[in-house]
Amino acid sequence: MRYPIITAEEAADFIFNGANVAFSGFTACGTPKAIPVALAQKAKKEHEAGREFKINLFSGASTNDCVDGELSRANAVNKRTPYQGCPDTRKAINAGAIEYFDLHLSELAQKMRYNTFGQLDVAILEVQSIDDEGNAVLGTGIGNSPTFAMLAKKVLLEVNEGINPKIKGLHDIYVPLDPPYRKEIPIFKPNDRAGSPVLHIDPAKIVGVVKTNVPEGGHPFAPSDETTMMIGENVCNFLLGELKAGRIPSTFLPLQSGVGNIANAVLARLDANPNIPSFDMYTEVIQDSVLKLIESGKCRFASTCSITFSTEAISEFFDNIDRFHDKVLMRPAEISNNPEVIRRLGVITMNTALEADIFGNINSTHVTGTKMMNGIGGSADFTRNAYTSIFSCPSVAKGGLISAIVPMVSHLDHSEHSVDVLITEQGIADLRGKSPIQKAETIIENCANPKYRPLLREYLKMSKGGHTPHTLRAAFAFHETFVAEGDMSKTDFSKYC
Ligand code: COA
Repeated sequence: MRYPIITAEEAADFIFNGANVAFSGFTACGTPKAIPVALAQKAKKEHEAGREFKINLFSGASTNDCVDGELSRANAVNKRTPYQGCPDTRKAINAGAIEYFDLHLSELAQKMRYNTFGQLDVAILEVQSIDDEGNAVLGTGIGNSPTFAMLAKKVLLEVNEGINPKIKGLHDIYVPLDPPYRKEIPIFKPNDRAGSPVLHIDPAKIVGVVKTNVPEGGHPFAPSDETTMMIGENVCNFLLGELKAGRIPSTFLPLQSGVGNIANAVLARLDANPNIPSFDMYTEVIQDSVLKLIESGKCRFASTCSITFSTEAISEFFDNIDRFHDKVLMRPAEISNNPEVIRRLGVITMNTALEADIFGNINSTHVTGTKMMNGIGGSADFTRNAYTSIFSCPSVAKGGLISAIVPMVSHLDHSEHSVDVLITEQGIADLRGKSPIQKAETIIENCANPKYRPLLREYLKMSKGGHTPHTLRAAFAFHETFVAEGDMSKTDFSKYC
């Protein structure tokens, strides 16, 4: 190999206080595992010596604990974008120790090419292999690696021998030209290949290679519970109704699905229902449930940015790669989440809300309007450009102390203009073609938990006048009551009359 083989500690020495540092991958998949740990150690030593040491951290989406966890615990992060899902990072963000800015995942690469956040100093990229000409085979998640490799002054590689070499051919690396020279992205069907199976990295920029041997694969999700099963069933019934009404063609349309237990349950219900025809997926992550769908023939093809399989599923995937090679393609986040492609393909999107208000606005990110949970991720990339956008969530959280349906969302991520359908375990609220008051009545009767329906009806009744009736001083009464008394159901609207 023509590149210097170095230790993770030597790699960390290339990184200086205040550097803009970008990491490969999308979720834990494809994310570096050795250099960030050494970097966190370096930060701790610098702090002990009384010196400031923090980096600005860019990624594809959430990362693994080696990146967000280690670096947050070492107090080594100044700015962070575009998304995170790490408890320690979340804590630091909400304590004001990390300057987090929450960004649509599809936007980061282009914004960095426009130099919006300053020059990228170092890219740390995990690869399965690299040849002497700089052609790299990436791992199980791409994220923004192509743009990071293109922009960084220096590139550090982690060559992970734990990644199965059979992964070669599953990537589709394509970076669009920037305006005013951009052409259409040549994806007209979910399985169209737009670019190259390898990422070219300028060999002159590669200052060191660290060898690792960490197998890919994570923990499987918890099995579905009764609530998530019912949400899955309701999503399934909604889609069947759309098919029957002819609003979805009989050949079906590509699906996007978020991650987590609800997404898994929805996909399991789609698999189990013989009336749902086979479909393609155009999405940003695929998990174990999608592997099952591909095996059963229900999912014909999945375009994604990462394959977040459990350890068992990833072995099964690579053991049977001949069956899967033409059924999965991984693309950069800018393409997996690309508004132009999503709108062209007519993607049906399915994402999860933290809370929704009675008029169909969605909060995906902020607990009681102030505390960051994870971030908006790709949910708006998909929702805003969807053929039909669906949000789902359980009708209550924390054992019923929180209603997911509130008078007014305490933070807005997706406005009522982008949200077509809201689904909870209680039922389906089809919001299309409805005025705000009609939306409110449908959401309260079909989606709110019965425990909270009387309070929500009372709020709507006391709010008179205008196109979207609100009693502004009471709009956050649910949240205020939860903060003060720990139970939204104790809300007393008579105080606000
Ligand atoms: N207020 C306060 N807390 C709430 C809440 C509410 N209205 N609704 C849910 N929660 C809590 C849950 O109790 C749970 O807490 P816990 O971790 O302490 O148990 C936590 O939020 C997660 O909720 P859960 O029901 O398990 O759903 P999830 O794991 O699917 O996460 C989101 C839901 C919204 C946080 C998650 O989907 C997300 O980050 N979405 C934004 C990004 C996105 O959509 N990405 C996919 C795009 S492709």
